[in-house]
Amino acid sequence: MSDVYAIISEVDQQIQERLVDVLEMRAADPRQRSMWETYLSEINFPPNARVLEIGCGTGAVSRILAQKPAVAQVIGIDPSPVFIARARTLSQGIPNLSFEEGDGRALPFDADAFDVAVVHQALSHVPQPEQLVAEGFRILRPGGWLAVFDGDYATASLSTGEYDLLEACVRAFRANFIHDSWIVRRLPQLLQSTGFDTKSLRSHGYVEAPESAYMLTWVDRGADVLLSTGSIGKETAEALKAEARRRSTAKEWFGHIAFASILGQKPA
Ligand SMILES: C[S@@+](CC[C@H](N)C(=O)[O-])C[C@H]1O[C@@H](n2cnc3c(N)ncnc32)[C@H](O)[C@@H]1O
Repeated sequence: MSDVYAIISEVDQQIQERLVDVLEMRAADPRQRSMWETYLSEINFPPNARVLEIGCGTGAVSRILAQKPAVAQVIGIDPSPVFIARARTLSQGIPNLSFEEGDGRALPFDADAFDVAVVHQALSHVPQPEQLVAEGFRILRPGGWLAVFDGDYATASLSTGEYDLLEACVRAFRANFIHDSWIVRRLPQLLQSTGFDTKSLRSHGYVEAPESAYMLTWVDRGADVLLSTGSIGKETAEALKAEARRRSTAKEWFGHIAFASILGQKPA
């Protein structure tokens, strides 16, 4: 089974369109926004900064970056034509922001072209992530910054006790929507071996309680995967989804993801 995001330009257009809503829903959550603000505020944007977001999806982070006072221009790049089309629609009226289709492992930009590059919740979806990080290094000017933010999905959980059945959905979700659940643990080594000086390795705890939000989609998507692979029948899939909703209504919902961020500076 492979991560849908890792092969996004090959997946059915309807699936890409459903993911548009998931990305924007997650981006609207104030708990997510507060984590972005924390790590983005650590970047020292020079005046008139040129910024690239690699794996921008529908462009939620790019829209925030474009409104920072020091930032002159933001380009978001992503392999999904559906995400890029939505990113363009959602950013109408932001003159310093544009989007392009492309693969972060083969960027269509000159060397030393950007002051800052951001990879937000995207590296865990990319096979050969070292190629993307190397491309980030190439397109940054000496002294420029790479910021990476991602989930430590290996430990993400919806369990509220031993043998919690919702955990089966989490595991199925991971298998179908994350390429590398362990990438966060290799970030310092990945950036340093590419040539970056690293700083600000930080953990950000995301707790969803007592009602469900974005992580309810993990149960729905995980149950659908278990159903489609024949691991469970329709009744069990429906029961898992119903249990998730019952828990949320009863205010017994608890979801946790440890995110992490790191900054890398290209030596001057
Ligand atoms: C979970 S989404 C995150 C999108 C956005 N950064 C956000 O936080 O809303 C992961 C993104 O990685 C993108 N992606 C997958 N493979 C990629 C690659 N090789 N290069 C650049 N982006 C890629 C997907 O298309 C998708 O938009």
